[in-house]
Amino acid sequence: MKLYLDTAEINLIEKAVASGIISGVTTNPSLLAKAGQKDVAQTIKAICQLVDGPVSLEVIGLSKDEMVQEAKEYAQIDPRVVIKIPMIHEGLKAIKELKELGIKTNATLIFSTGQGLLAALAGADYISPFIGRLDDISAEGLDVVAELAQIFDLHGIESEIIAASIRHPRHVIGSALAGAHIATVPWKIVDQMVKHPLTDIGLEKFLADWEKMKNQN
Ligand code: E4P
Repeated sequence: MKLYLDTAEINLIEKAVASGIISGVTTNPSLLAKAGQKDVAQTIKAICQLVDGPVSLEVIGLSKDEMVQEAKEYAQIDPRVVIKIPMIHEGLKAIKELKELGIKTNATLIFSTGQGLLAALAGADYISPFIGRLDDISAEGLDVVAELAQIFDLHGIESEIIAASIRHPRHVIGSALAGAHIATVPWKIVDQMVKHPLTDIGLEKFLADWEKMKNQN
C-alpha cells in the first residue's frame, strides 16, 4: 500500500516528501486552479523534481485525438508524468492508443466497478475510483475499490487501484483493507492521521515527569 499526495501545492508536497510518506502525486484541473498554478508545465516539472514517483496530470480535451495530443506534450515534461484520462468512450480509445505509445495513464472519474474494469481492459496503468464523491451521494465508495481489487486479483489484471476523493482517515484504512494499491490523499488527511489526542496527552505527561525527575536531583 502506497500513499500519494492529492495536491498541486508545492509547499505541501515538500512537507510530505520530508516525512518519507508519499511516493507519488496526483493533480487535477481543480487542484491546479486552487494552487493558483497557471504554468502547468512548470508546476509539474517542479513537482517531479521533488517526488521520486508517478505524478498524474489530467487532459482537458474531450476527443481521443485531443487527449492523445495533450498527453504526448505532457509526457515530454518528465518521464514520471502519468496522464489522467476521463472515463468516457473517447477516453478509453485514448488509453488504448497511449498504451501503444508507451505513455502511462490513470483512468479518472471512476464511479463504478464496470467503469474501472473497462479502463483496465483498455490498458490504463492506474484506475482511480472516487470514493468520497460516491459516499456524498449515499453510495458505498469503498465497495468499488473492493470489487475492483477482487476482480484484478482473480484475473491477473495488472492495473493499480488508486483510491481517490478521500474524505477522512478511515477512507485510507478502508482502501488499504479493501485491496487498493494506493490512496491519494490531501495534506489534511495526513495531518489527521498523524494526530491523536492520546499521543498529545502522553507526550505532555512524559515531558512533565522528565522535568519533575530533573528537579528532584
Ligand atoms: C484524484 O485523483 C482526484 O482528482 C481527487 O482525489 C478528487 O477528490 P475530490 O472528490 O475531493 O475533489
